Amino acid sequence: MKKKIALLPGDGIGPEVVAQARKVLDAVAGSFGHEFVYEEALVGAVAIDATGNPFPPETLEVLLRSDAILFGALGHPKYDNDPSAKVRPEQGLLAMRKALGLYANVRPVVSYPMLYDASPLKAEIIKDVDFVVYRELTGGIYFGKPRGRSEDGNTAYDTAVYSREEVNRIAHRAFKAARLRRGKVTLVDKANVLATSRLWRETVVALAAEHYPDVELDTMFVDNAAMQMILNPRQFDVILTGNLFGDIISDESSVIAGSLGMLPSASLGDKVSLFEPIHGSFPQGAGKNIANPMATILSAAMMLETAFGMTSESQAVRQAVAQAMEAGYVTIDINPKQHYGTSEVGDKVAEYVRAHKSVKA
Ligand code: IPM
Ligand code: MG
Repeated sequence: MKKKIALLPGDGIGPEVVAQARKVLDAVAGSFGHEFVYEEALVGAVAIDATGNPFPPETLEVLLRSDAILFGALGHPKYDNDPSAKVRPEQGLLAMRKALGLYANVRPVVSYPMLYDASPLKAEIIKDVDFVVYRELTGGIYFGKPRGRSEDGNTAYDTAVYSREEVNRIAHRAFKAARLRRGKVTLVDKANVLATSRLWRETVVALAAEHYPDVELDTMFVDNAAMQMILNPRQFDVILTGNLFGDIISDESSVIAGSLGMLPSASLGDKVSLFEPIHGSFPQGAGKNIANPMATILSAAMMLETAFGMTSESQAVRQAVAQAMEAGYVTIDINPKQHYGTSEVGDKVAEYVRAHKSVKA
């Protein structure tokens, strides 16, 4: 198959980790007889530097003519420490999600046996954890209006808004995913306090009863869910939640995987899909060849399967990641005593992908 992939390296460690995923995609193309054509575009602080806009119109054009998007990370400390900055890199990400209608953010969390020691949690807690977070990505308090400051500057406000339609469309995806997994959805909300959460609960309970009687539905307040995730993460199969809660619990869940550098994600909508690691731009690590490329490589694996229907190819990448880790090809976040550089880990995974195919052939 021939596929056009838009690459958005972004800021900080983004370019380094995207370069590794590209090596792995090239290995897949070579071994499985596909052709991947890449087109790069700017987003984030690099886009502000070049154009003044964190998500320039040229970037949107590149994305709309691609079959899938691989995104690294964005963010720069010069904006984090300047609350008065008028444009911020993060606005680029939010604008991109909105422009592409990427309302469903899918974040799988699995624990790898060889990373049990990398997690501060006990092995018996994280053993065999396998769940996926369905985070709503284009609504809620991230986008609601009005937002801003009072005239005297002493009061600030954000507004959480959700419509039934926004809840329904992501809920359908979560329930369908549960059917292909262990058949359980946990809705995470704050329905004891928030009106938006009560709409979520009413909508999801009704949708479950009408369309998915075969799927078990559990409901949990977000504060309790944050605790349950650490106490007994095996109870979760599919977690369905809104934008802000999903942002928070997905970072929390990375502790289960052993490192934030291990978690991939897919952002899906009705147009082209975007794949990205859940970690940020880690500016302190930029250019040092120390960033963990696995989350981006695993995001590329999600792209192969979800966007292109390339199941064996995706499987080959996931297996190559596991093999590289078993062989000790890990970055410093995983093993501070014995580790390799970003680029060496990327080379190794690509090598395993090529070896996988020649064994099969
Ligand atoms: C994420 C990130 C973003 C978010 C930031 C960078 C705007 O934390 O993808 O989880 O909050 O959605
Ligand atoms: Mg986040």
